[in-house]
Amino acid sequence: MKITLPAGSFLIGTAVLTAGIAGSVGCGGAPATGDGEVVVTQEAVIGDALSGTDPTKFNSGKNVFTRSLSNSDGLGPLFNGYGCVACHGSGSIGGGGNVTEARFGKLTNGLFDAMESIGGPIRQSTGIGGFNIGGLNCQSGHDNNPPVGATLFANRLTSPLFGLGLVDSLPDGRFDTLASREPAAIRGVVNRVRIALANPLDPSQVVGGTRVARFGWKAARPSLAEFAADAARTELGLTSSSCNAGVPNLTFALENRPNQSPSNAVINGCPDDTIPGTDLDFAVQSQQCRRDPATGASGSINKLDPTIELLTFFSAHLAPPTPVPISANTAAARGQALFNSASLGCSGCHRTDTDVFVSTSAGGVPAGIVFAPYSDFLVHDMGSLGDQMGNTGDSVAVTRRMRTAPLWGLRVRNNLLHDGRTTDRAAAITAHAGQGAAASAAFTALTSQDKNDLLQFLGTL
Ligand code: HEC
Ligand code: HEC
Repeated sequence: MKITLPAGSFLIGTAVLTAGIAGSVGCGGAPATGDGEVVVTQEAVIGDALSGTDPTKFNSGKNVFTRSLSNSDGLGPLFNGYGCVACHGSGSIGGGGNVTEARFGKLTNGLFDAMESIGGPIRQSTGIGGFNIGGLNCQSGHDNNPPVGATLFANRLTSPLFGLGLVDSLPDGRFDTLASREPAAIRGVVNRVRIALANPLDPSQVVGGTRVARFGWKAARPSLAEFAADAARTELGLTSSSCNAGVPNLTFALENRPNQSPSNAVINGCPDDTIPGTDLDFAVQSQQCRRDPATGASGSINKLDPTIELLTFFSAHLAPPTPVPISANTAAARGQALFNSASLGCSGCHRTDTDVFVSTSAGGVPAGIVFAPYSDFLVHDMGSLGDQMGNTGDSVAVTRRMRTAPLWGLRVRNNLLHDGRTTDRAAAITAHAGQGAAASAAFTALTSQDKNDLLQFLGTL
């Protein structure tokens, strides 16, 4: 439903979010209580803000991220979790987790078909049930499981958000540089996509223009702002509208609907928002993006929906995980050398180029921060490890492409690989196929001592 809480009210109830609180956020459990109180195990600096971040805004964003939503906040009608932290809580608020979401599709004339007409490609796992709009008794309905006609299915594991604001700040050319440095056999593809929602803090982003997609297991989305608006709608059922350069942006204003429902205009017989099925709230408050709702100043308004803006700010300002220091002549030091060796080739895709990974101020993070994500954020043909999912019209070869998983913060991850199939790091390595097959074979051929050294190194990330 449309977001009904003004951004400021998320601070009511003074959520408990400071470091060092005992307990844990388990993704299968109940991570957030109804009043927004959250109990977290905080490790070292994981989950902290980038230094210099406005703490008030960061905490406001964190409160939105951790809030457990109810119907009156705009939850549903269909949704996957009660709040972002329901899935993103491993290691700290904003982390990955063991929750997977279900995707589906089919092949039509040999090409991938995301089945948008029945609510694909993501199946929402639950709904709010009965709800009341303007005196009408309504039902959220539910997604069919399996969706009628789907033949391809894949689970997607929740990935961590630490450090991603730095990645968001990188200009497109950095990814081209990474690709150009990779040997042809493992070279990744730079995935340029159409920008659906522009982040006003990065003037280079224009709706309808292109940007290198770098977020998600398949590098499908170009920015954290667009991901936040998409996640709010897809995972929580929170629709939003924003203003991009004076034009209402309604890309994420349409409800998820039950995958057996014929139309987006009604949710099982009940109109949802002011204009059925669409959320014009922020655009309407801004008089169709020509007047700033906060100041009343007229002009060409360029602002995200306030809730989406806070979620974006929080995600963008999470500091990258700091690796555990490695002493010389230890197993981890030997493992690091193996990781970087030409014979294993791990660092060919899991990259740390210090000239490329330097933040810029695009998106509002501090410029000049050098970071080591252990990824190229490019997609690679991973053969049998590919998940067979894509956008409508993609060839089967394209559906095998996966983004190199960033390995920073691996030590606070549990389940691994895009579908969370294993907790065993060695098994995750041997599952590499396609462009990763040579690395997998080289790993398998190592002595058990060398394997152990490599795994010790991975445990420091
Ligand atoms: C039901 C579980 C769930 C909820 C709730 C959820 N997410 Fe996610 N999140 C995921 C999964 C699964 C992925 C991986 C998606 C993919 O790549 O297809 C993901 C990925 C992301 C990414 C991309 C990370 C990367 O590695 O590039 C961002 C950003 C993100 N989520 C933000 C949010 C925000 C903001 C919210 C709240 C509005 C949210 N998520 C709520 C499950 C969830
Ligand atoms: C051709 C590029 C490529 C090479 C070479 C490569 N990887 Fe990967 N790696 C990937 C991709 C892509 C994924 C995500 C696969 C998926 O889940 O679909 C991944 C995932 C992983 C994961 C799981 C991480 C997670 O978050 O689930 C680990 C661990 C890993 N790689 C370690 C290694 C090691 C160690 C080597 C060297 C022996 C290596 N990789 C070589 C591309 C590569």
